[in-house]
Amino acid sequence: MKNIVIYATTDGQTRKIARFCADRLADLGDTVELLPAAETDDLDLTRFDAAILAGSVHVQGFQSVLEQVAHRLAPGLARLRTLFLSVSLSAAGDDPEDWAGLRACVAAFEEKTGWHPDRTEHVAGAFRFTRYDVLRGWAMRWIAAQKGQAIDPHADREYTDWAALARLMQDWRDPPRRVD
Ligand SMILES: Cc1cc2nc3c(=O)[nH]c(=O)nc-3n(C[C@H](O)[C@H](O)[C@H](O)COP(=O)(O)O)c2cc1C
Repeated sequence: MKNIVIYATTDGQTRKIARFCADRLADLGDTVELLPAAETDDLDLTRFDAAILAGSVHVQGFQSVLEQVAHRLAPGLARLRTLFLSVSLSAAGDDPEDWAGLRACVAAFEEKTGWHPDRTEHVAGAFRFTRYDVLRGWAMRWIAAQKGQAIDPHADREYTDWAALARLMQDWRDPPRRVD
């Protein structure tokens, strides 16, 4: 299968996740192209069988570059198998309100872009304290405190479950056959 993996990232975790997915698909024998959303101007989707788009939630929305790309590519994406990876910190927890917020974010993304992926998965991201400026550092420390997370404000803290992501890639490539 020929895959395109398109991602948008603000602090780097979604790039790491997109790279991991691309590597797993390649390990499984697929062809994979990995592209930042900002570099998709001359992308010809007819070269691919499947597409994964990945972006991260920042203040209840995805990167605008990902929204623009999903909107522009929506007609081409509709002809492929598609998976949307929504990366967030809410996905690391089990707060029903947070999960409702995530579902609302994805619904708003679909509404804005007109792209309706075949499958959406929520992936836990990371605190990237080593990348934040002072203001965002404070904001994220406050969020961590609200969630009762013990963090070191001078170190990154990753919640991404890489084993689960590897299983997802396996399942995405070879979905279990339905037994009727
Ligand atoms: C300024 C800021 C706002 C964020 N807002 C949200 C949010 O509204 N909901 C959420 O679940 N996570 C939120 N996050 C967490 C990010 O989604 C998480 O850190 C993710 O790993 C970022 O991915 P990236 O490194 O690819 O940008 C926020 C992070 C930052 C820095």
